[in-house]
Amino acid sequence: MTAYADATTAETASRHTRVTRLVHMGLAITIIIQLATSLVMSGPGETRPGDALFQLHRLSGFGAAFFALMFWLVLLLRQRGTAIGALFPWLSGPRLRALREDVVVHVRSAMRFRLPEYEPGSPLASAVHGLGLMLMSAMAGSGLIYAIQVWAGQSAEPDGMWVMQIHFALANLVWVYLIGHAGLGLIHHYMRTMRLSEMWSFRG
Ligand code: HEM
Ligand code: HEM
Repeated sequence: MTAYADATTAETASRHTRVTRLVHMGLAITIIIQLATSLVMSGPGETRPGDALFQLHRLSGFGAAFFALMFWLVLLLRQRGTAIGALFPWLSGPRLRALREDVVVHVRSAMRFRLPEYEPGSPLASAVHGLGLMLMSAMAGSGLIYAIQVWAGQSAEPDGMWVMQIHFALANLVWVYLIGHAGLGLIHHYMRTMRLSEMWSFRG
């Protein structure tokens, strides 16, 4: 039976709890708003506050910070879903070995111009998802520290602020993550090896 057929027969049994799917949706949507606004907004400076699109960037950034924090809480408290150790394998010998083996499988497939089979909870995919969550938390955290510094009376000019140097340096990685992660999700969905409703559904 293919993974897709498995998913079809187990339509109501997503690997991910509803609360995981809700915080994932919230985080994904706010990050997409962040990236879209960042392309066209005019940011703040010494004497100007930033335009309406920057205000949207600021507000949805607070939303992203909220959903990132909720995601961490859900990871710590949930009963079902990807194990925390799979999302963050960096300190476990057996997890790192499994990750290395999965990387080899993926590299071999890539060298044959083939997409590796979709495997629920694959060590490589899970480790990348964990890195994605850390990346979004760093973006939201750096934006939040910037906002607090401005509230505390510092100049709103982001250039030269160390925390915004982090924000700018990581910004391109957010694009890479979103395009790679959502792109692979769409490819697997259309190849019928996984359903997007695995993550994008409200069902209980
Ligand atoms: C996860 C949340 C966030 C993401 C993904 C994100 C993403 C981005 C991106 C892609 C840029 C453009 C970087 C560049 O031009 O090199 C940017 C700029 C900026 N962001 Fe964020 N951001 C987030 C949260 C926040 C928050 C909470 C604030 C707080 C106010 C904020 C404030 C800024 C500022 C001041 C700039 C520079 C604007 C400019 O000078 O044009 N960001 N952000
Ligand atoms: C940049 C915003 C996003 C972030 C930070 C993000 C983060 C994550 C994380 C951390 C997981 C693993 C959750 C777990 O195993 O508990 C995950 C899974 C997933 N994401 Fe995203 N995601 C984002 C955007 C998207 C988008 C736009 C799509 C739509 C194509 C998507 C589709 C999926 C799917 C289908 C899964 C489940 C994969 C599986 O079970 O094998 N994500 N995402």
